[in-house]
Amino acid sequence: MNAYNVAIVGATGMVGQEFIKILEQRNFPMASVRLYASDRSAGKKLYVGHEEIVVKETAIDSFQHIDIALFSAGSEISKHFAPVAAKAGALVVDNSAAWRMDPKVPLVVPEINPEDIKWHEGIIANPNCSTIQMVVALYPLHIVNPIKRVVVSTYQSVSGTGSAAMEELTTQAKLVLEGQNVVPHVYPHQIAFNLLPEIDVFMDNGYTKEEWKLVDETHKIMHADDIEVSATCVRAPVFIGHSEAINVEFANPMTPDDARRILAQAPGVKVLDDPSVSLYPFPWLAAGTDDVYVGRIRTDVSHPRGLVLWVVSDNIRKGAALNAIQIAEEAIKRNWVKPKS
Ligand SMILES: NC(=O)c1ccc[n+]([C@@H]2O[C@H](COP(=O)([O-])OP(=O)(O)OC[C@H]3O[C@@H](n4cnc5c(N)ncnc54)[C@H](OP(=O)(O)O)[C@@H]3O)[C@@H](O)[C@H]2O)c1
Repeated sequence: MNAYNVAIVGATGMVGQEFIKILEQRNFPMASVRLYASDRSAGKKLYVGHEEIVVKETAIDSFQHIDIALFSAGSEISKHFAPVAAKAGALVVDNSAAWRMDPKVPLVVPEINPEDIKWHEGIIANPNCSTIQMVVALYPLHIVNPIKRVVVSTYQSVSGTGSAAMEELTTQAKLVLEGQNVVPHVYPHQIAFNLLPEIDVFMDNGYTKEEWKLVDETHKIMHADDIEVSATCVRAPVFIGHSEAINVEFANPMTPDDARRILAQAPGVKVLDDPSVSLYPFPWLAAGTDDVYVGRIRTDVSHPRGLVLWVVSDNIRKGAALNAIQIAEEAIKRNWVKPKS
């Protein structure tokens, strides 16, 4: 079996740490691994398996002899270094928003469009976390009964903003419980015991960029530009796990039982849906696991061809690190990436 030289850019971050964990858990065929971050973390030591590895500052010469480069250090770093890594011959799987809508870059969820990996020119983009879990749940229904329109409201955890936001929620929760004042740093307002309907920046049309990612990325991944999507993205005081309430309008009527049957067989999906015993997914249950969970499947009483779903997933795993590693695994399986040595 071939083994690959892997680089992780952003190795010290929330997603980077999960990359390391998942590569080990899935026995990813690694010949070697190099860890990169900014100059702040250069010299820090991290374990990959039993091997202690020194984190280095990301630089132009970081990608020599690298076969697969997993990027998760934000858009600016990806814009700058992903082409450098690709030019050095690595297959880049990029977690940032930098390349997702570039027509020359495939945007991939392996359960949906693995064939798109084939036309990569060195960079493959990993979709946004809220998009990944939505399309994993919707695509199996769409191929049976085409989706016309989606209205989605998200409840997104703070881990989607990175480690500083995790600390901010912890600190603020303690301060509020002690009756003290909170000064927000990461978010524009207090996040503890609160909800903020602002993720990413506002656009001229009143939506945020996060909400617009759900529109554009859904079209690109599902190859279905005619699906109408309207999203409201909300940051919730949850550490890990994004939740989504989704109203779906189909071309033809679909019963909740049909949807449950289709989703029960769909790759990467687990149906948890028995209101009589309060069985439905929630972030605490999804955190640390790999599936996209679907529950509360019911007829939308406001539309003759509508269903309502509640979809939950670990945003750091399936929403980021796991999906990226699955892309690399798929490329290896199909011989679309080859080790240099
Ligand atoms: N679904 C998704 O695809 C998804 C989900 C979540 C996040 N993300 C993306 O992943 C990125 C990282 O998210 P996170 O949650 O892991 O954030 P995080 O916990 O804040 O970690 C950021 C990482 O980026 C590194 N970094 C920052 N500036 C750098 C620089 N100038 N050069 C090299 N490395 C630098 C940091 O290294 P230091 O330790 O040196 O600061 C750290 O390793 C986000 O910005 C986002 O673009 C994607």
